[in-house]
Amino acid sequence: MGILTSISRSWLTKTTKPFHFRSGENNALSFMHTPQLGLYIHIPFCRSICSFCPYCKVLYDEELSARYIKALLAEIDLVGKECKGQKKEVTSLYFGGGTPALIAEDIASIIERVNTYFVINEGIGVELHPEDCTTERLQMLKDAGVSKISIGVQSFQPEILKILGRDPIDYDSVFKAIRQVPFETVSVDFIFALPTQTAESLIQDIEFAFAHGANHFAMYPFIDFTFTQRKFARQQERDKKRLLYDIVRYCEECGYHRDSIWTFSKTGRSRYSSMTRDNFLGFGCSATTLLEEQFKINTFDVEAYIRQMNQRRMATSLTLFFTKRQRMVYYLFWTLYSMELSETNFEAFFNKTLHSQYGFEMKLAKWLKLVTKDGDTYRLTTKGSYYFHYYEHFYTLSYIDQMWSLMQKQAFPAQLIIR
Ligand SMILES: C[S@@+](CC[C@H](N)C(=O)[O-])C[C@H]1O[C@@H](n2cnc3c(N)ncnc32)[C@H](O)[C@@H]1O
Ligand code: SF4
Repeated sequence: MGILTSISRSWLTKTTKPFHFRSGENNALSFMHTPQLGLYIHIPFCRSICSFCPYCKVLYDEELSARYIKALLAEIDLVGKECKGQKKEVTSLYFGGGTPALIAEDIASIIERVNTYFVINEGIGVELHPEDCTTERLQMLKDAGVSKISIGVQSFQPEILKILGRDPIDYDSVFKAIRQVPFETVSVDFIFALPTQTAESLIQDIEFAFAHGANHFAMYPFIDFTFTQRKFARQQERDKKRLLYDIVRYCEECGYHRDSIWTFSKTGRSRYSSMTRDNFLGFGCSATTLLEEQFKINTFDVEAYIRQMNQRRMATSLTLFFTKRQRMVYYLFWTLYSMELSETNFEAFFNKTLHSQYGFEMKLAKWLKLVTKDGDTYRLTTKGSYYFHYYEHFYTLSYIDQMWSLMQKQAFPAQLIIR
């Protein structure tokens, strides 16, 4: 597994140099001239902790949450200073977690602080646990300016929820609340390739969500991180592949629009895309920032994050300063999440043509029927999206798993070298 990612990294970056993440606070974040910038805010609190979940999270505690929000506002000010009184236009703002809707009453003040420095053009999204979907909480989010919600359903099937260790949910009241407080995008998160899951049960889940007010869904493949404590077996790779192909075929037949590797929209009009952005600024513990020249990640330690902010210091744990080629690989990876790669956008970003940098690779991908080309845009085929996922899975298990497991043990590691 490590070998596959090492070979492809060396091939695409045209060097055997590893990714070297260094420690350091890194105060200078230059983003005023960065195009297509998105914002992400991490809220690490959950009512209970799920055994399969790799994200940075802690049990909700009112006092800790109040201190965390104060720290978050301080980080927004610290980073926002770079704007020097001018407002920076950004695409969108996403709140992820953890369970951001748990602090619904504070979302308005966080958005207000973000609005001091940024102009958000494409809406604000928030992740919810199904238990958060009450009329009051949804109304609070809507009044704060939230336009998109995504609900972590995982599955509507009681036996799957049991495997995941989740209590049964009264979905009649969840969907009643959603109908009473409408949002532009109502997305539902599912996980697939869990034990006993079949294409029929997944399709049933999709149809149930669409029939009850959702207009978008994410179908994530189950990722088995080494540092989580999941207690169930995962499906074989070939069964997972069959499930993915069956779901994609079904969605194509129904005319649902695939707007990224894992997400589908009922009509093509709704979007929830916290992943598909060229550049982003991340706030909160564990949040990542991706700019033209660097990738950086904040500490996973909630108390350490708060301490840094109380001293008005950045909470950066590790930073990678890119070589041009490394940045290109990051660009290709994140852009292909949206299933499309535009030659014009690549050239605008790097001032070099895609053909001059990856002409051979794109030709090979076309020959292998992994992509098709329409005008200046390459689009992943179903086969291409499967192999993208296959590669992403390796990447996640050899890169993200290594990084996140280290960061869960140490607030500020000295360095991380990924070969
Ligand atoms: C941060 S959580 C979502 C919000 C909320 N806390 C919840 O669980 O309902 C984001 C989503 O990641 C997905 N997820 C979590 N663990 C996963 C894993 N091991 N493999 C694949 N997807 C996972 C789930 O679909 C989850 O809804
Ligand atoms: S899946 Fe959601 S509720 Fe469960 S631990 Fe992860 S973030 Fe928290």
